[in-house]
Amino acid sequence: MEITTAAGMRVWSADQRAAGRRIGFVPTMGYLHEGHLRLVDAARAVSDVVVMSIFVNPLQFGPTEDLTRYPRDLPRDRALAAGRHVDVLFLPDAATMYPPGSDTRVVPGPAAGWWEGEVRPGHFAGVLTVVAKLFHLVMPDVSVFGQKDAQQAALIRQMVRDLDWPVALVVAPTTREADGLALSSRNSYLSGEERRQAVGVSAALRAAHELWRAGETAADRLEAAARVALQMYPGVRPEYIAVAEPDALAPAASAGAGCLMLIAVRVGSTRLIDNVIFGEGIP
Ligand code: PAJ
Repeated sequence: MEITTAAGMRVWSADQRAAGRRIGFVPTMGYLHEGHLRLVDAARAVSDVVVMSIFVNPLQFGPTEDLTRYPRDLPRDRALAAGRHVDVLFLPDAATMYPPGSDTRVVPGPAAGWWEGEVRPGHFAGVLTVVAKLFHLVMPDVSVFGQKDAQQAALIRQMVRDLDWPVALVVAPTTREADGLALSSRNSYLSGEERRQAVGVSAALRAAHELWRAGETAADRLEAAARVALQMYPGVRPEYIAVAEPDALAPAASAGAGCLMLIAVRVGSTRLIDNVIFGEGIP
């Protein structure tokens, strides 16, 4: 079933709750891949009905970013969602989400000042604002996000806590290609040669994690190991490679278990991000 209006979404959600059903929710920007679909599986495991939203949120794209060329394929997304038994596809348009005069924004905390937030000013205010609105329309009991976007997941967790939201969050592990590349809608931008180079991102994280397993915890040494591994992939230009605290995302001098290594790179004109949790590693 598909719902496109805010009122329609609210009515469906109220009906489900009245019937005593637990609502699971997976927000996406579409161009679905197996990473998105595993979030659906994770939502289904803890809910009675699953809603997936597809909305390419203009508010989280900067003026020079890829909003207009962001990949879209609704017929394919419909088939993939149906294959995973998504109960409702919520497909609002921009006028539904941001009617003229809608000016209020969610201001993220200091964890948005690092990494993605530093490189992409306003990005996380855009993400939190749309997630807040989607939560109000869908009223989920549980919502599932991906570890692939670690900073996003941490900021949404903080928003839910700070604003007393009655929604449980699940952060599901990153789904990867067989060679380690994290699945992403933006991988579709990569040419054949760029795709071969892009594997350097997960190879760099793996190199750092192997060094950590061997007992090294100094952030600068772990970062250096990742940079050395990346030198094998000259098509990959690092933007940042950093060890960060789990929730606050502040840079960490030493990597305890649960700390993250975060990486952002450019491969050609495509920007890719990935991360690893020390102690968990890349499967
Ligand atoms: P999008 O990039 O479409 O991602 C939707 C969800 O899928 C996010 O929770 C993201 O972390 C997760 N995801 C993407 N690739 C993944 C992978 N390889 N493994 C596991 N999970 C993965 O993130 C967004 O959209 C938007 O910012 C959104 C939250 C929808 C707000 O507009």
